[in-house]
Amino acid sequence: MEGSPRAAMKGFGSAVPSKVMTNHDFETFLDTSDEWITQRTGIKERRITEPGDTTATLAVEAAQKALADAGVAPTDLDLILCATISPEMPFPATACFVQEAIGAIDVAAVDVSAACSGFIYALSIGSQFIETGRYKNILVIGVDVLSRFADFTDRGSCILFGDGAGAVVLQPTVEPDKGVQYTVLHADGKGWDYIHVPAGGTRLPTSAQTVEAKQHFVKMRGRDVYKFAVEKMQWLLGDCMEKCNLSVDEVDLVIPHQVNIRIIESATSKYDFPMDKVYVNIDRYGNTSGASIPLAMDEAIKNGTIGPGSTVMLVAFGAGLTWAGAVVKL
Ligand code: UT7
Repeated sequence: MEGSPRAAMKGFGSAVPSKVMTNHDFETFLDTSDEWITQRTGIKERRITEPGDTTATLAVEAAQKALADAGVAPTDLDLILCATISPEMPFPATACFVQEAIGAIDVAAVDVSAACSGFIYALSIGSQFIETGRYKNILVIGVDVLSRFADFTDRGSCILFGDGAGAVVLQPTVEPDKGVQYTVLHADGKGWDYIHVPAGGTRLPTSAQTVEAKQHFVKMRGRDVYKFAVEKMQWLLGDCMEKCNLSVDEVDLVIPHQVNIRIIESATSKYDFPMDKVYVNIDRYGNTSGASIPLAMDEAIKNGTIGPGSTVMLVAFGAGLTWAGAVVKL
């Protein structure tokens, strides 16, 4: 539709806990090594939330920074979308805790549960409200505190996760070369057991047995996730370039879900993306799930890797199974 608005990203913010947990820290209580974790994942350290901080406190910090960056008052927001799978509580939505804390009086607030693809899902949902003209200011947050769901006796999964939050403010633009150009969302529920937390829901309510059996922690089929991840990340890169008619040269930066350096390299090498066009901060933050892409994006903007005019491709996959991509012009 000619003249219809697109969703421009106007403000960015992020937050990570100050506590650093290195691979060497894991060596003190797990049968693992810095060498194994570094070689198999690319992770050197991650941030871990300390008592007193929660999913909402990280989300609020990222949100306030994004609002300040955009010059938008909380009361001017129309909608808060919070992508998370490690919510403040099973209900109400973490977005409602954020809404209250930032003083966004009466502003609509809801969570999006799509695991590591959650931020792109929420970005896509928010963009629709802007494109239809219904809303003018939308806060999209990706936040996860998976350290509270990690089984620190399971060396195959706990070493992967770190905590963090990232946020963006969406506003309408009619400039043709700005804003969210394309999003693609997919899911395959057959793979629900690839990564999941078995208990605490209606299928397996909380009991002394579920606690005893550690069923409130993340269970993961690492190898299967790995294969799925490479395949879907490759597909997403190809789809985004094809649908937006972009060549590798025309993409300034790919921001992949920070999952595992080997997965990122395998996926991007299929299209010969040089690694200087692929943003990687997994070495410092690990896999922060829903926060991974907005956290990396905020960092890439602040350190000058991307800026106004840049064409950025976002690709992610996660529990669900879900996978999602987006092309954004800054
Ligand atoms: O957002 C999505 C979240 N999920 C993921 O990102 C998971 C994607 N998958 C992966 O990143 C990788 O599959 C892992 C990093 C989880 C595992 O790496 P891998 O190269 O696929 O290793 P593997 O599971 O095939 O295990 C190889 C060996 C096994 O020992 P054996 O059976 O060969 O003796 C594991 O027990 O490595 C062992 N191992 C470890 N050794 C030291 C597994 N975890 C560790 C560890 N330290 N932390």
